Amino acid sequence: MNEDVSKVVLAYSGGLDTTVAIKWFIEQDIEVITMTAEIGQGIDLEDVERRAYESGASKHYGLNLIEEFVSDYISPAIQANALYEGEYPISSALSRPLISAKLVEIAEREGADAVAHGCTSKGNDQVRFDITVRALNPDLKVIAPTRIWRWTRQQELRYAMSRGLKIPESHSKYSIDQNLWGRSIEGGPLEDPWEEPPEDAFEWTVNPIKAPDEPQYITLSFEKGIPVAMDGEEMPLSDLIVKLNKLAGNHGVGRIDHMESRIIGFKSREVYEAPAAMVILKAHKDLEKFILSRRELQFKEIADREWTNLVYEGLWGDPLRESLQRMISDMNRYVSGDVRVKLYKGSIAVVGRRSRYAAYSVEVAGYDEGWYPTDEEARGFIQTWGLHTLMARAARRVV
Ligand code: ARG
Repeated sequence: MNEDVSKVVLAYSGGLDTTVAIKWFIEQDIEVITMTAEIGQGIDLEDVERRAYESGASKHYGLNLIEEFVSDYISPAIQANALYEGEYPISSALSRPLISAKLVEIAEREGADAVAHGCTSKGNDQVRFDITVRALNPDLKVIAPTRIWRWTRQQELRYAMSRGLKIPESHSKYSIDQNLWGRSIEGGPLEDPWEEPPEDAFEWTVNPIKAPDEPQYITLSFEKGIPVAMDGEEMPLSDLIVKLNKLAGNHGVGRIDHMESRIIGFKSREVYEAPAAMVILKAHKDLEKFILSRRELQFKEIADREWTNLVYEGLWGDPLRESLQRMISDMNRYVSGDVRVKLYKGSIAVVGRRSRYAAYSVEVAGYDEGWYPTDEEARGFIQTWGLHTLMARAARRVV
């Protein structure tokens, strides 16, 4: 079926699907180069490399992409307050265009005619890979072996065994995808939307009931919409996220359970853990409300939602995503300041904010003293403001 393909670059996770895929390609006389990206999912790159070669890869790329992931994908998502359907911090979605870009880069360098990934035909990720790769290089074929062979897990295991492939023991009843920005948990008992997610679905967060009885306060400092320090200590955003995942997860913060509308036309029950993401996004949004004008805020909500939808929907490559991103970043020019957050038994509360660019003034807003419009000023404003409404009503009363 792939007569005209002789060399493929495969996004290799080290799991069952992609390990079987290596062998499956080789049996069709297709050379396989594997690529594994470290994006904070906690992977042993050396171990994966060894398994890639054992399974027959001719060459392997193990890439640490954490810094690129943080600066080019997570950072714009923070500036865009990116929460798909108001809940999901698009952690898995953000990683796909980066992995796609690397696949294309390696394919071009190695003279491969195709790239491949391990996604099934039911998920969103296949859409993100296929479109992003084609956007970057329309000449490359995209092959998804699991979409072609459609084997059950049992069939795959049998194939692996008969070929002597070593498959890492997986006892998880869930399908997991994780990176620095979040952990996606699907399948198994979660497919019944009425059932509360079992405790064993969670790894990054403690059950809020077991979280410390004392709240913890943290201060996040932002520059141009990006966190640059925690509790006064400056650090790279990647370190800050790692620390905050631990710290907030320990307070039971960042569990998400929602019915998600997939790109592929159906809903699925999705559970996530994203402690750092949820804290940072909440703090960032609060700071924007403190600094941006009312009209900027109202407009930005639309831009943010469009940007988030495009990324979720696999359209990272759309020119609109780039234009929106430039605007969103521009609107974050003054989003600098500190936000004080209280973490307590699964809840995140912003309890304080300060900024040299605050559009808030206690002289103007305060109830006790300072600026008060005169009676005449207030009535003049209110009359003009309400005129559209009052005139329309009066006109209708005539009949
Ligand atoms: N529903 C989420 C999304 O579409 C999570 C996907 C997780 N991917 C996975 N291969 N398990 O972004």
